[in-house]
Amino acid sequence: MSSDFTWGVSTSAFQIEGATHADDRGESIWDRFHAEGHMPDGGEPATDHYHRYQEDIALMGELGVGGYRFSIAWPRVMPDGKTINPAGLDFYDRLVDELLAAGIAPWPTLYHWDLPIAVQDRGGWPHRDTVGRFMDYTAAVVDRLGDRVGHWITQNEPWVSAMLGHRDGYFAPGIADWKLALRAGHHLLLSHGRATEVIRELGGESQVGIALDCRAGYPASDSAEDIDAASHFDGFRNRWFFDPVHGKGYPEDMVEAYAEAGRFEGDPLDFVQSDDMEVIATPTDFTGINYYTSLAVNTANKEREVAESEPGPNPAPGYTEMGWAITPEWLTKFLVRVNEDYGPSSIVITENGASYSDGPDETGKINDQRRIDYLDAHIAAVGDARGQGVPITGYFEWSLLDNLEWVAGYGQRFGIVHVDFETMTRTPKASYHWYRDRIDQGL
Ligand code: FCB
Repeated sequence: MSSDFTWGVSTSAFQIEGATHADDRGESIWDRFHAEGHMPDGGEPATDHYHRYQEDIALMGELGVGGYRFSIAWPRVMPDGKTINPAGLDFYDRLVDELLAAGIAPWPTLYHWDLPIAVQDRGGWPHRDTVGRFMDYTAAVVDRLGDRVGHWITQNEPWVSAMLGHRDGYFAPGIADWKLALRAGHHLLLSHGRATEVIRELGGESQVGIALDCRAGYPASDSAEDIDAASHFDGFRNRWFFDPVHGKGYPEDMVEAYAEAGRFEGDPLDFVQSDDMEVIATPTDFTGINYYTSLAVNTANKEREVAESEPGPNPAPGYTEMGWAITPEWLTKFLVRVNEDYGPSSIVITENGASYSDGPDETGKINDQRRIDYLDAHIAAVGDARGQGVPITGYFEWSLLDNLEWVAGYGQRFGIVHVDFETMTRTPKASYHWYRDRIDQGL
């Protein structure tokens, strides 16, 4: 294994921690979303990682990963969105110490979607004040953990928070309003820039990045309509976030298209204040990329995030149980293109993985060969991009554990470790053993 490359696994707080009332944790938008009946399963008990983190870190130790990407729950640290709860920080303090003792570098993400409900009730991400609240929260976390954390991730997938959460109402907080979604997206980006500044100030020499989700879109046919649609999809799905973070501002073609469609509340981009774009483009040490799939784009889906195949067990060949097409070649192309278009300092694959629900056979073994095939092909794709000169410095598999896949519930299993949600027993799958060997081989 070359030492300039970090192999890791990824998780997020709400998806694994459970213990939603422990140590005065406050309510999050996802607790509320579940309580209001918008999703079948909630954050209780998840994998009970809050009480089992030592066992989980031992599993990571055996696996041989050099990094662990997890997220910090803002509602634990600030239950009312503004007052620090030391007991909430204590959990992450213990987690970080335990990781370091196991020789694993902590890679915390500050925001993986679980906004305190108190902040939502004061306007949430569409409201500019939330950026200031996020800075206070960031300062509290960095103040406590900064002496031991070498890598910070500010935001996870701002496109998802903005669009699925505020345009579609499909994710928490369940708002369906284009205008609010664009405002929310801007404040999420701004909070990334501001948090980066806070970390630079308080976090010593640590490295900072953002985890951007992407979906590579390509024209469904060679018709002019589909070619245009694919470019629009790319603007909507990727460039709207990648461009500003890398200093290019909001893409003009999309500003025009959104203005024409009446998607701004007032004047186009009137939510952008004087130095916002510079703040959003504050230099980072790495661009995190979460990659799962691509999309054949036509005029009907150019602004939609669709599963190409019916989600559920027994997916068609070439698809995972999320209904997502398996297209590792698009990962290579996307990485090459990001490097050419933006020249980021470095790139870390902050998430990549597949949902398959294979469980234990009669001997107790879990043979998730399809996940192995998926990971094998995608890691090779990362290697290909690196071979073409893309400065990729890490790969984090999603996910260590089967967990709560948001609105899809506990049925979509992404783990390389199986979790029995009745007993909380952890059982490494074949992919876990495979990944351990793969790490040993190096990229
Ligand atoms: C990403 C999320 C992550 C997980 C995977 C499957 O969009 O960041 O929490 O749900 O998808």
